[in-house]
Amino acid sequence: PTMVSIELSHSALFILIVSNYSCVFYIPVMGIVNVASSTNLLTDSKNVQLVLDPSLQLLSRKQRKLIRQNPGILHAITSGLQSAMKECKWQFRNRRWNCPTTQSPNVFGKIVSRGCRETAFIFAITSAGITHSVARSCSEGSIESCTCDYRRRGPGGPDWHWGGCSDNIDFGQVFGREFVDSSERGRDLRYLTNLHNNEAGRMTVFSEMRQECKCHGMSGSCTIKTCWMRLPTFRTVGDFLKDRFDGASRVIYGNKGSNRASRMDVRHLEPENPAHKPPSPRDLVYFEKSPNFCTYSGKTGTVGTTGRYCNSSSPALDGCELLCCGRGYRTRTEQVTERCNCTFHWCCHVSCLNCTSTQVLHECL
Ligand SMILES: *[C@@H]1O[C@H](CO)[C@@H](O)[C@H](O)[C@H]1NC(C)=O
Ligand SMILES: *[C@@H]1O[C@H](CO)[C@@H](O)[C@H](O)[C@H]1NC(C)=O
Ligand SMILES: *[C@@H]1O[C@H](CO)[C@@H](O)[C@H](O)[C@H]1NC(C)=O
Repeated sequence: PTMVSIELSHSALFILIVSNYSCVFYIPVMGIVNVASSTNLLTDSKNVQLVLDPSLQLLSRKQRKLIRQNPGILHAITSGLQSAMKECKWQFRNRRWNCPTTQSPNVFGKIVSRGCRETAFIFAITSAGITHSVARSCSEGSIESCTCDYRRRGPGGPDWHWGGCSDNIDFGQVFGREFVDSSERGRDLRYLTNLHNNEAGRMTVFSEMRQECKCHGMSGSCTIKTCWMRLPTFRTVGDFLKDRFDGASRVIYGNKGSNRASRMDVRHLEPENPAHKPPSPRDLVYFEKSPNFCTYSGKTGTVGTTGRYCNSSSPALDGCELLCCGRGYRTRTEQVTERCNCTFHWCCHVSCLNCTSTQVLHECL
């Protein structure tokens, strides 16, 4: 049961991957909604994008209810998940584990039912993706039940006042807690670390909010300045979570100072090494060593690094030695044609030359 709930919380079960451009998803009541115009598509080598399972039956009853109560939110959830997948792949592009995604049943594969650092990152980035996307969709007016955050009003400082449309991070956080966390069940370390990492993702979005301002007044004199709160870019969120991945805390369930009646609580997560600081709410936590991700294993769901491109002159993780796990690599050359020396002709036309170069590629055995 625990594994099922983890998969659900990652909304992975209700997603199918298709490889064409006409993205269609279905909502039982509203019929077919075409979202082909979505600008947020994954464009990896196969032009993979997401489609929701027509039945939504793999969501919990509570999750379906939340979707009914918030018309427009399903699209925000899907595009939040897409951003999360894309960001995860980008952040890990040079590592042995490069955030591979698969066809159903679970886009991120078996790694989500483990308790290692990579699991922690997946939970945090998908939770952050949903909160980020929902908060932005509110301020863009595409969810019926929320708007811009207008609660900040009046003067904010000596020379500016609140105004304009703030991204609705509160709605995004509250919705994320209800929707993403609701399917976590259990009373074990896995349950607590998943909840903690979900919250770490949301907190990261929240704490990177920035103030943006605009000047008004005669010819930009800035006699009146209005300011609002803006979400960070999702790349900023990804960068922060990747840093937290590198410094993640290995935890155990500690019972210190609690009585038997006390509930399972993320505050009971303690560092495995008593000399370490307790994890802060924005730190990622894990409880299990990662596999080495070198070879294919159907059991653990790792695909291995055979066929990956490596950098023969890098001593780091993307170098052939480490990425290929000492198995060696083969080298081949490829002709690459790119547009180059583009010139702009008045008006309005750009012409380019085709430059062909030879690229040397190293591929892990
Ligand atoms: C390969 O690694 C070297 C050394 O780290 C670096 O300077 C170079 O830009 C890398 N090449 C590519 C194609 O990433
Ligand atoms: C492109 O422009 C650069 C300098 O502007 C020149 O050196 C080079 O030969 C040009 N390439 C081609 C293919 O014409
Ligand atoms: C460059 O390549 C494209 C596609 O192969 C071709 O249509 C175009 O005419 C080429 N341009 C030049 C300047 O050769």
